Amino acid sequence: MTRKLFVTTALPYANAAFHIGHMMEYIQADIWVRFQRMQAEGDGLREVHFVGADDTHGTPIMIAAEKEGITPQEFVAKIAAGRAQYLDGFHIAFDNWYSTDSPENVELSQGIYVKLREAGLIQTKTVDRFFDPVKGMFLADRNIKGECPKCHAKDQYGDNCEVCGAAYQPTELVNPFSVFTNATPILKPSEQYFFKLSDPRCFTFLRDWLNTPGRLQPEMVNKVSEWLGEAGEKLADWDISRDAPYFGIPIPDAPGKYFYVWLDAPVGYLASLKNYCGKKGIDYDALLADEGTEQIHFIGKDIVSFHLLFWPAMLQFAKHPTIDRMKVAVHGHLTVNNEKMSKSRGTGISPLRYLNLGMNPEWLRYYLAYKLNSRVEDLDFTGDDFVARVNSDLIGKFVNIASRCAGFIAKKFDGKLASELSASSQEWIKKALVAEDGTERQASIAANFDSREFGKALREIMEIADVANRFVDENKPWVLAKDETKVAELHDVCTTALILFRQLTILLSPVLPGVATNVRSFLNDAAYTWADTSLASGAAYQPLLGRTIGAYSHLMTRVDAKMIEDLFDAPAQQAAAAAAPAAVADAAPAALDAPAAGDIEELAPEISIDDFSKIDLRIARIVNCEHVEGAGKLLRLTLDVGEGRYRNVFSGIKSMYKPEDLVGKLTVMVANLAPRKMKFGVSEGMVLAASAKDEKANPGIYVLNPWPGAEPGMRVR
Ligand code: 2FM
Ligand code: ZN
Repeated sequence: MTRKLFVTTALPYANAAFHIGHMMEYIQADIWVRFQRMQAEGDGLREVHFVGADDTHGTPIMIAAEKEGITPQEFVAKIAAGRAQYLDGFHIAFDNWYSTDSPENVELSQGIYVKLREAGLIQTKTVDRFFDPVKGMFLADRNIKGECPKCHAKDQYGDNCEVCGAAYQPTELVNPFSVFTNATPILKPSEQYFFKLSDPRCFTFLRDWLNTPGRLQPEMVNKVSEWLGEAGEKLADWDISRDAPYFGIPIPDAPGKYFYVWLDAPVGYLASLKNYCGKKGIDYDALLADEGTEQIHFIGKDIVSFHLLFWPAMLQFAKHPTIDRMKVAVHGHLTVNNEKMSKSRGTGISPLRYLNLGMNPEWLRYYLAYKLNSRVEDLDFTGDDFVARVNSDLIGKFVNIASRCAGFIAKKFDGKLASELSASSQEWIKKALVAEDGTERQASIAANFDSREFGKALREIMEIADVANRFVDENKPWVLAKDETKVAELHDVCTTALILFRQLTILLSPVLPGVATNVRSFLNDAAYTWADTSLASGAAYQPLLGRTIGAYSHLMTRVDAKMIEDLFDAPAQQAAAAAAPAAVADAAPAALDAPAAGDIEELAPEISIDDFSKIDLRIARIVNCEHVEGAGKLLRLTLDVGEGRYRNVFSGIKSMYKPEDLVGKLTVMVANLAPRKMKFGVSEGMVLAASAKDEKANPGIYVLNPWPGAEPGMRVR
């Protein structure tokens, strides 16, 4: 039976360009998909459909579009237009990229809902929802922040906690506030539609579904089992409706109500598949009904509750045919230099900046793959580690084999490889490709790719490369080439080395598809399949014997450590590229029109540089911050500017910041301002903060915060 794999990655919100965390997930899935596509023979034909889409609905996109004065559809289209450069740039080969704002998604989401209603799993309740009294609208979960009710992490969104992964209702947040106005939201009654997850049928189904062997990683089974409770007592009904105004899909028979974005987002997987099937002439319903079809979702650990509770329950009770053939592969988060990345802020490395610096996308693919395993573990990108790993493995061990031998084949043998191999070379090939237990390494490498143990697969591939390098080192083709009597030996050695190089290329091709394409044309090979790596069948060496190959051109350069400096050096550009819609971030800074004039305070009279240098501005660390009793506007800051003592500074920023938000942060202070005696004590300097000319229109006071790298005591000039 043909295995048909329907593979997805989490659908990214269409409110920003991709960040490096997205790239990691897509690279992980793409490697797995490419590996599966190579299983053309021997292990059952695999047909793979790899689809993605933009997750478009919800309040944040509606608000972002409103701010830009365009429709949400226009906003989403702008973001979507910027996707290809990332996907193509990192060799991520989705079969289809679509949108949750699509007719297929409307039809499928409403269809699923109607079936859930027929199953008696939809219930309406009048509930209190958070309402921003200043903005005059109901607040989406993501528009409310506060303290996680489970782990008490601060600054968490209203739907789930990025720290502990818990899902909850926004009403459960401790000390909630509106992200638009900072106002404390008020509760207002509204009729809401609920998916009855508390129904005993959901518990029974989920318990059995989760515990089906091979479906989920063990740590995920444990985690979700905790959420179920002993008998489902912990499962709460899920509010799937939102009130107008909302950018979303209307709920059938419920005027003014829309599906909560997380209801229609996963349905977007199906919508993208359906759209793709339409384009390809594939029967969508037949594909899903096919017993050979498996549905695999790659997701991050922060969205587990949506994919392991709500989504399977929705599919089950809507009688979706693949529910018993569905798996979810959860990965940890990517940290950059050990700093946690935030989904919405998208910190760290900008993928486009990486590409624009001329960094090879396959370096990143290899590096991430090397660090990936099948467990739900975070992985860290560190500059030094990246340089060392890529240069040592890809250049030092892999490319080096070809670059040391290919030239001799061209120069001395007119590009023709030897027609047979010496016994010694055959032994070396065996030594490289066969493990100690007598099995071919390609088989265990395949098993590791299949089970997403990419790091293990690559380590084993590098062991083959180590043997190949030992072979070249011991046989020294550069020495043989100087001796006319050793021509046959030279031919044999270089042919063997290239056979091993080809084997390495095929094994690495899920990770390095670009390199594989170049090697194929250099060796005059056809498209690689996994069967081409078999030693037993002779496929691993026979095709090359006696073949005339093309000219070798350099396959990959070393990473220059300077590139890493550049990658991290310009935070302003990084942030712009990470946060701005791609189309905007990548616009060439050609002839710029003058920006529109704002209503700003008039500039102060010109001063000389000497005047400016009288002001001693320093980087300060806020080591403590507290409220000042009896002071309506002030916070008391304890600052360290590297002088070996603390400064006490009062600052009128209480309306904007909570003390705990500031502690530990860096800011800029005027360090040589004469101390000022105030009602509450002496203020020994001033913290810099920005405010608008019209304080009524914009009462915000924004404290300055230097880019990473600045340290207390550094002078600002
Ligand atoms: O967390 C996110 O980025 C969501 N946009 C993921 C949605 S995955 C799927 F359900 F669409
Ligand atoms: Zn938490």
